Amino acid sequence: NKNAMPEVNTRDPVEKMAAYKKNTIVFFGSQTGTAEDLASKLAKDLSSRLGLKTMTADLDDYDFNDFDKFPEKHLAVFVMASYGEGDPTDNAQEFYDFIKDPEFESGATELPDLNFTVFGLGNSSYEFFNKIGRDVHRRLGELGGKAVGPYGEGDDGTGTLEEDFMTWKEELCATLVSEWGLEEHEPVYEPTIDVTEEEIAPTSSDVYLGEPNLKHLLASKQKVMPPAPYTQSNPALAKVLAARNVFKGTDRQCIHMEFDATNLKYVTGDHLAFWPINSNVEIDRFFRAFGIKEPNQVIKISLIDCTSIIRVPSPTTYDTVVRHWLEINAPVSRSVLASVAPYAPSPEAKAKATKLASDKVLFAEEVTSKCYNIARLMLHISDNQPWDSVPFNFVIETIAPLQPRYYSISSSSLEDPSTISITAVVESSKPKNSDHEVKGVATNHILAMERRFSGHSDDSYELAGPRGQMTYDEHGVRGMIHVRHSLFKLPAKSTVPIIMVGAGTGVAPFRAFIRERGVMQSKGRECGPAMLFFGNRNRATDFLYEEEWPQYKDWLTVVTAFSRDCAEKVYVQHMLEKHSKEVNDLIMKGSMFYVCGDATKMARDVHKTLIRIIAKEQNLSREQAETIIRKMRSRDKYQEDVW
Ligand code: FAD
Ligand code: 2AM
Repeated sequence: NKNAMPEVNTRDPVEKMAAYKKNTIVFFGSQTGTAEDLASKLAKDLSSRLGLKTMTADLDDYDFNDFDKFPEKHLAVFVMASYGEGDPTDNAQEFYDFIKDPEFESGATELPDLNFTVFGLGNSSYEFFNKIGRDVHRRLGELGGKAVGPYGEGDDGTGTLEEDFMTWKEELCATLVSEWGLEEHEPVYEPTIDVTEEEIAPTSSDVYLGEPNLKHLLASKQKVMPPAPYTQSNPALAKVLAARNVFKGTDRQCIHMEFDATNLKYVTGDHLAFWPINSNVEIDRFFRAFGIKEPNQVIKISLIDCTSIIRVPSPTTYDTVVRHWLEINAPVSRSVLASVAPYAPSPEAKAKATKLASDKVLFAEEVTSKCYNIARLMLHISDNQPWDSVPFNFVIETIAPLQPRYYSISSSSLEDPSTISITAVVESSKPKNSDHEVKGVATNHILAMERRFSGHSDDSYELAGPRGQMTYDEHGVRGMIHVRHSLFKLPAKSTVPIIMVGAGTGVAPFRAFIRERGVMQSKGRECGPAMLFFGNRNRATDFLYEEEWPQYKDWLTVVTAFSRDCAEKVYVQHMLEKHSKEVNDLIMKGSMFYVCGDATKMARDVHKTLIRIIAKEQNLSREQAETIIRKMRSRDKYQEDVW
């Protein structure tokens, strides 16, 4: 493609900006893809509205040793997610260590010419809310950088992240207009990628059809195993070894699934990243909404500008892009609707889309509360007319990339390092304002895999890819996975007492912990006392892994809270309080305290309850009890694995 962008191989952001003639670089620190998506959209907006020459940059792709040479009148934007206990995301770790290095302070490498601005993404359910965004903003200022516009932050806990981002973006644009003298114009879409239809058969072995990446495609052509290590950028295709529904009722499912982990490395307490595909019904709806009539047409995608980062391998097909690469089922954001509105198929639809996108309150009432995804919304607005003038490069650039979902591993690596199990509750509900059922992408894909594994036919997901990459015949059912290491860990000594509090699938890592201690016991090691507080809706249907616990009764006490078995709700924290004395005694003996499951409500309530327990049992003030818990956290005695 003559428009394709030449490769510039450098890890120096200043050099790269010069090579591409850019004056604005939007870095992102992203774990689940949200920060990356917002960074990419911001880069496009700053370019199309203000005429800045922007590029998007993954922090992991750069070194910052020469960052002190950042040119004057250029701008560096940092879109930084905080993760877990106020940690940087994996791709931002090195950058974060670099700017925090105390030697930086007095050395020659300060940042006199750096114009910067920071937006933090966090969740107010966590104690260290937006720590990374705040640290980066403060630290760049300390190092001599000049902040442009206000520091902004968004809260995923209250569900306002997208709106927080839009508010901050408007403030930044206003600052750039008033202080930098930039002129604002009506945004025009400038493609950063080129999509061309090719005369290649979709069955050709050169065409990418949803393998984890091009390395896998090459390996499948040569009939060899794709090279390990298996990581985020090179996930494994792992065979399902066992799968069953562990809820006993018929209205909800919770799937216990075991993967062959022979080629993966994990340690008890880690997370499994599962890469889902979209369901057939949503893909069909998407094709209808965008008027895509030949989904198996082969296309070539080339990057013509680095304003955004596009990772889809090519040549590929429309179907592959929609099935494997785009988050087509997520709630629609106002900014996505605003950018697609100009392509509406009729003046009425255009007016309607523009009005909805520009009115925050109306949008919340008419779109968000009704749980539309993009295709459903477009068809609703246009009375089922296809929006067939939307260019496919715009589609790829506008719809966020499909992200892996994380699951707390529920198996013990000590018991079996070559098998990884997860425990996933299938997300399917009909919200009260919505006229349709809303289904989670990954968990319904996992459900379809379980159905197929159990010998049932299920055509909701294309498990057998065109080239057998997800096949259920030749290789059994397979899923695309990688392991993410976590800090949620058992103490090295098996005698240390442990208290585990888990609601719903929050029991997953505790199953792993308990089984791990069981193996230690069978090897002659003494096990300290363990308490599991487990909560779910009903004992009869959702007492997860009930049959496994009795074998550990010498050292394990299981306390349950079934919230819907009695008139008044009983939650894990109520049972914790009921066992206040035992809990406190174990803590005084140096027990670990673990919480897993819902971050927004449960983990907070458990935290508050533990403060009350310690204050009451040790006769302390609330502040003193809080100090004890803070110390437990800083010594890793209080650990959370929450989402
Ligand atoms: P998604 O497609 O991501 O949807 C998320 C939610 O939004 C669902 O409830 C869905 O019904 C709803 N939704 C979908 N579309 C729309 C729409 N258009 N409008 C409004 N709402 C919509 N989960 C477990 O079950 N077990 C675990 O052990 C576990 N461990 C985790 C560990 C970590 C560290 C993290 C971060 C998360 C963990 N999770 C776990 C949660 C898991 O990662 C997924 O978020 C969860 O399974 C839902 O994924 P999904 O793809 O099925 O749903
Ligand atoms: P509920 O749905 O009946 O309210 C797993 O989802 C379990 O966690 C369910 O029993 C659920 O109860 C319960 N749960 C809901 N809110 C909670 C909270 N704030 N603290 C602890 N458990 C909670």
